[in-house]
Amino acid sequence: MMEVQILQDRAAVAAQAAQIVAAQIAQKPDCVLGLPTGETPIGMYDDLAEQCAAGKLDFSRVTTFNLDEYYPIAPEHPQSYRYFMNKHLFTRVNIPMEHTHVPGGQGDVDEQCRAYEQAIAAAGGIDLQVLGIGRNGHIGFNEPNDAPDARTHRVTLTENTIEANSRFFDSPDDVPRHAVTMGLGTILDARKILLLATGAEKFDAVHKLLAGKVDLSCPASVLLRHENVTILCDRAAFEGV
Ligand code: GLP
Repeated sequence: MMEVQILQDRAAVAAQAAQIVAAQIAQKPDCVLGLPTGETPIGMYDDLAEQCAAGKLDFSRVTTFNLDEYYPIAPEHPQSYRYFMNKHLFTRVNIPMEHTHVPGGQGDVDEQCRAYEQAIAAAGGIDLQVLGIGRNGHIGFNEPNDAPDARTHRVTLTENTIEANSRFFDSPDDVPRHAVTMGLGTILDARKILLLATGAEKFDAVHKLLAGKVDLSCPASVLLRHENVTILCDRAAFEGV
């Protein structure tokens, strides 16, 4: 089942997403969250941090697994996803740092991918997986035509993604060419999925997804196989203007 909510703007998407995450934590205080990076979820993280500061939300028993990380990259690199998560969420809420997991951006990739899958399973699986969406429909770093049943693995980024993500680096040459990502199979194992799409540049990806047919040129369309997906889009992503 896929529920689509079209909201006015980025702020409305952030507020609604934060409300869904907060409801998950209230319902199961020791829940396991799957989390995304990117510009889209920043407002949601701000809202969650505010709720926590106001004493309305308790992250002390929550466990998190991030979707992806560049490879190679050091965790202290300002463009690493570990750095992003510490900055936007983990240091602003009362989550014990050892409950937070981001795929490793260095060292033996295959071993780390296996360990990541084992850690997710040992935590009892992901209760709520939050996703952004790339302009080409990627989720995590699962690029077009990646295997629909893949587990956490290393990927080669497409030129489209390198160009889109180069806005955060000094130059496109500085963007790592590889990444480690949960696979589409890992993502589909989550009990609930919440996808956020904001901005007109997501129009094509959103409409390929809403076309209702699994098409691996748009990796997000595998979500059609999942039974509990909510999509929050702003008007710009839905209307393309
Ligand atoms: C990156 C991340 C994705 C994210 C996408 C969109 O490539 N790996 O997980 O969803 O970018 O990011 P943004 O929200 O900045 O548009």
